[in-house]
Amino acid sequence: MDARNPRTHRKMEASRIIPATPPVVGKIRRGDCVSVMSEWETECVDAIYADPPYNASRAGVSLPNNKTGGAYYKINEAWDSFQGDDYVQFTYKWIGQAARVLKRGGSLFISCSMHNIGEVIIAAKEMQLKQNNIIVWRKTNAMPSIAKRTFTYTTEYTCWFVKGTGWVFNYHDIKKYNPQKTKDGKPKQMPDFVELPIVQGRERVRGDNGNRALHPAQKPEKLIEVLLAATTKLGDIVLDPFMGTGTTAIVAEKLNRKWIGIEMESIYVSAAEKRICAARK
Ligand SMILES: C[S@@+](CC[C@H](N)C(=O)[O-])C[C@H]1O[C@@H](n2cnc3c(N)ncnc32)[C@H](O)[C@@H]1O
Repeated sequence: MDARNPRTHRKMEASRIIPATPPVVGKIRRGDCVSVMSEWETECVDAIYADPPYNASRAGVSLPNNKTGGAYYKINEAWDSFQGDDYVQFTYKWIGQAARVLKRGGSLFISCSMHNIGEVIIAAKEMQLKQNNIIVWRKTNAMPSIAKRTFTYTTEYTCWFVKGTGWVFNYHDIKKYNPQKTKDGKPKQMPDFVELPIVQGRERVRGDNGNRALHPAQKPEKLIEVLLAATTKLGDIVLDPFMGTGTTAIVAEKLNRKWIGIEMESIYVSAAEKRICAARK
């Protein structure tokens, strides 16, 4: 058997004996999300929001003397760099575990860009997940195209997958997130896109010196709020296997949902814990 073949690998993973430990709610576990999730019992979380590495670091543009204005955070991180087909293997492994720990009828959201949307969708389909939507985030302050040889990149995507049928969709509640109204001024259906700036100002988590963004990929709280408000109920457990600065925990607490986080880098674990404590005051 070739363990590097994603399909073979998946079969090998499934044949392992899975320990039945319940995850600890309201805490960030430091570690690799594949190993951490593999310790947990099957079908133990109601929803998952995942913002994995996009494997986009090599494609970064260097802007040492950027004078174009706006807040641009170039991603060039070791955790975002994969060689050869390692990224495909990684995507299969973590989505495999996520699909296993997700309850029947639960939602799995995966944020991505043009760099990794292909791998994400193929892996999720292999795990028998059904795709409901691709929610587009149009960045209202996106970085201009410096090379001027492509359309300006202004969007990221969040793929919404469900495990089986019977998923939650709070159709009426989320109309309030649509700034557009019907002709007679009533709330309107929420479409599959949001328009939001890249995180800046007080929402941006800063490093110790206070003026540099700590994390290059911090997601807007509002984006995750729309997703969780749409697909979870009060008290549901939401897992984020790539917790970064803790955005999912902040939103989950705001919406009175429970949360579980996993994050590999200690600097982000500490920053997220500090941010979560500050938001509770
Ligand atoms: C795109 S960022 C998530 C940002 C987050 N959504 C936020 O708002 O701050 C991806 C995060 O996953 C972490 N990471 C990368 N590989 C991981 C792994 N195998 N297990 C757990 N965390 C990982 C990185 O350290 C990084 O913080």
